[in-house]
Parts: sequence; C-alpha cells; structure tokens
Amino acid sequence: MKYTVHLKDDSYPITIERNAIQKIHETMNTQRKIAIIADDGVPQKWVDCVYQQCENAFILRFKQGEASKCFATYESLLKQLIEHQMSRSDAVIAIGGGVTGDLAGFVASTYMRGIDFYNIPTTVLSQVDSSVGGKVAVDVGSYKNIVGAFWQPKAVIIDPNVLSTLSQRQINNGLVEALKTGLIQDETLVELFEQESLDIDQIIARSINVKRKVVEQDVKESNLRKILNFGHTIGHAIEGAYGLNTYLHGECVAMGMLFFIENKALKERVLRIYQRLELPEVPEYDVDTLMDYIVHDKKSHASTTTVVKVYEAGSYQLEELSHKALRELLEKRECYEK
Ligand SMILES: NC(=O)c1ccc[n+]([C@@H]2O[C@H](COP(=O)([O-])OP(=O)(O)OC[C@H]3O[C@@H](n4cnc5c(N)ncnc54)[C@H](O)[C@@H]3O)[C@@H](O)[C@H]2O)c1
Ligand SMILES: [Zn+2]
Repeated sequence: MKYTVHLKDDSYPITIERNAIQKIHETMNTQRKIAIIADDGVPQKWVDCVYQQCENAFILRFKQGEASKCFATYESLLKQLIEHQMSRSDAVIAIGGGVTGDLAGFVASTYMRGIDFYNIPTTVLSQVDSSVGGKVAVDVGSYKNIVGAFWQPKAVIIDPNVLSTLSQRQINNGLVEALKTGLIQDETLVELFEQESLDIDQIIARSINVKRKVVEQDVKESNLRKILNFGHTIGHAIEGAYGLNTYLHGECVAMGMLFFIENKALKERVLRIYQRLELPEVPEYDVDTLMDYIVHDKKSHASTTTVVKVYEAGSYQLEELSHKALRELLEKRECYEK
C-alpha cells in the first residue's frame, strides 16, 4: 500500500508493506552518505537490516526513553554529524519510535539549516501517527515538544513486521492513537477494533491515511490539525501528574478521551475496546492538580481551552471550553461510570 502526502514541494510517499524494511532502495537513494539514528531499545536486527542496504552509512545510538528527547542528546547527535563530516547533500534516517523520529527529525531539520530526513517508524504509535506530519521536536524540562520545527520527511517506510519485537503493552499503547483517529474521522477504523482478530496492517493504513489527509489540509496546525488532540487535554494532564513512571502516553490519551465522548452507546463501545487492549483505568485524581497542567498547556489560552468532542464515531466537534467548565467536568468524575 502506498500513499502520497501532497504538500507541493514537500510531498512525500508513505509505504506500508510487510518486508518494506528490506528494500528501502525502492524509496530512497541508498548510495549517498547517511546517518542512521536509533535509540538503544530498537532491536539491532532492524537497524542492521537498514544499515546493510546502505553503501556509505554510519549508526548513531542514544539512550532509549523520553528523557533523551532533550538538548543534551540533540547536541551530541549534531556533534557526531560534524565529526562524520556530514554535508548539506547527506541524509538522516530515523529508525525507531516517536522519540527517535522526533529527535532525529529535529537534528535533520537544523543541521546546516536542514538536510534530508527519512523516517522508518518501528512502534505502533509512530506507524499509525507520529511518523507523518513533519512535527519534530525536543522537550525542555517538563515542557514537552516546546522547541521544534516542521520538517517533512522525504519518505516514510512502514513495515508491520518490525512490530514482532514490540511488547504487547507498547502495541496497545500505540493502538489508542489509531482508535482516536477513527473516533474523530473514520468509523470503519473504529469497527476494525471490534472484529474478532485485530487486523493491524489495516489499522495502520487507515489511521496513517487519515493523518495524511489532515496534515495536507493544515500542515502547520493552525486549525484542522487540532482535532488530532482529541483526548489529549486531560490525557496530557494525567500523564504529567500521574503518568511519568506509571502510564504510557496512549494509555493517558485513552483516559482523556472518555471525558469527551458525548454519547453513551459509543462510550460503552469504546470501553469494551479498552478492555480488549487491557488499558488501565483512570486513577483517582486531584482536580486542582490536573487543572494546573491544563491551564499551563501550550495549547491553552488565557481562560479557555479548545477541546475536541465526539458525538458520533467518525466525526468531531471543536469547542472552546472555559477553564471553569473544564473544572466542572473533572469534578463530575463521569469517567468512572460504566
Ligand atoms: N511528531 C508527532 O507528530 C508526534 C505525535 C505523537 C507522539 N509523538 C512523540 O512520540 C513519542 C512517543 O513515541 P513512542 O510511543 O513510539 O515511544 P518510543 O519512541 O520511546 O518507543 C517506545 C520503546 O520501544 C522501543 N522500540 C522501538 N521500536 C521497537 C521495536 N520494533 N521492537 C522493540 N522495541 C522497540 C524503544 O526503544 C522505546 O524504548 C513521544 O515523545 C511523543 O511526544 C510525536
Ligand atoms: Zn498523542
């Protein structure tokens, strides 16, 4: 399966195919000089597979985990590119999850004012969502993605086979972002989660295709792209307040979505899917603590926050909610009702 992200001069192909990782020359020039960047949790066999196809490449590894998405790792990677005498005409390949993609992409976007970047996502989250759209960034302290750029990859190569080494928890974590995408834009994608066996290839393809269309219409997140934040207002707050060592991002997004599914039958369907994905329940939370995170989120305004609501599977509504209304919503604790 192939899609093209249509962005005038920045257009690029997305390949979704089993074994695609073994034939990257079909989408990129493997003879040029290439820095392959991966965190140390990405299994060696996937990195080697890419490396062995390149004629003039070297591998840079960094420590796995969100904490590496920081200035220190960013600087260290840039210095290594300089040591390897990378020029403007050379390229970076990211192979890994969203952390590797965001970090390596930001390195590529700024090295010599920007060099070619290829993304080979290896987690479900990055395959269904983060690898497409060109948002690259690092965190500064507790401010996630606060410094970054829009830097579109030259190609995205998605091979579902690489998920064979990923833990079930990480798989389910990433599937939440695909379910989110379905809830706001594609009811068929939601239905895929209700079939007897999960067709992960189809889920990836449908999800990334919705992301592609949204990005095409709003590349800089001035409007439509905000819908992808469904579940993230409260999700990010739970992640910041209680998540750090307990929950994964997708697990928190799942919790956050429950507050904005405005239809009882749909909410029941979603809760059944959560059970299937063995997602954790919303923890006992303190309203003030969560409000603190919401108010200080970079997507919040002085006294309101734009939230995404879903009344029917596959469609969304954007609403400007006052912080007072958000507080009341948290106080109702409807998320505990089955
Ligand atoms: N740019 C965007 O549009 C966008 C969108 C959503 C999320 N993100 C970012 O994505 C990041 C989260 O990404 P993630 O969930 O992929 O986490 P991650 O990149 O940290 O990957 C999770 C873990 O899986 C390991 N791993 C990766 N591939 C593997 C494989 N095939 N087999 C076994 N282990 C493997 C990694 O080493 C890591 O330890 C966050 O930093 C978030 O901000 C970015
Ligand atoms: Zn997310």
